[in-house]
Amino acid sequence: MPRVLVTYATRYGSTREVAAAIAEELTAAGMDVDVLAAGPQVEVGKYDAVVAGSPSYGRNWLPHASLFVVGNASRLSLMPVALFTTGMLGVKNPKSALREHERIMSTLREFTPGLAPVTTALFHGSFDRRRLPFILRLLDRLAGTPQGDQRDWEAIRGWARRVGERFSERLSGDRPEMRAENPDEPRPDEPQQDGRV
Ligand SMILES: Cc1cc2nc3c(=O)[nH]c(=O)nc-3n(C[C@H](O)[C@H](O)[C@H](O)COP(=O)(O)O)c2cc1C
Repeated sequence: MPRVLVTYATRYGSTREVAAAIAEELTAAGMDVDVLAAGPQVEVGKYDAVVAGSPSYGRNWLPHASLFVVGNASRLSLMPVALFTTGMLGVKNPKSALREHERIMSTLREFTPGLAPVTTALFHGSFDRRRLPFILRLLDRLAGTPQGDQRDWEAIRGWARRVGERFSERLSGDRPEMRAENPDEPRPDEPQQDGRV
């Protein structure tokens, strides 16, 4: 049974719930899944495949998630990886949000040689202005950020099922130990983008 890590960063907890839903779908697909907050304590070497995600704050992933990917670059470049972003920008401005997500993905790839996600995705998140400090609340009211829980569970779970299929394909024909014998073999997958907003 493939061992899969679903790791996430979060400030207010909504991305943890997205990670948990992804983990449920991968478990239903027959995988042995751990859901862990991204951080230096996470042992990537125990896993065959990894899903990592973060909300976008100030147009970037949270540091724990970015550092997790960059800090585990050599291991992650040898296993199937899927990445996701959550955020509110896409609720009103899908094209701009997708550009933001793609820029974050390419920055991660820039700092993570060999990283070739089997897929990446962008999901609507959850936002409550009332949690912000007073000044930020005022600024946010002017900015008109969409409020409330905008998470699309069908989109999230559908993506997770496709991730499971891609992980299974990769792990059945492209196991890390086989690749270690043929380090010069070309990678079967180019990065694919099927982000949704
Ligand atoms: C200060 C602040 C900055 C944010 N910046 C962005 C952003 O740049 N792009 C975006 O799409 N969403 C942005 N958001 C919305 C969050 O990404 C969204 O609410 C997310 O679902 C929060 O996830 P969490 O509950 O896991 O922390 C921002 C929210 C806050 C409070």
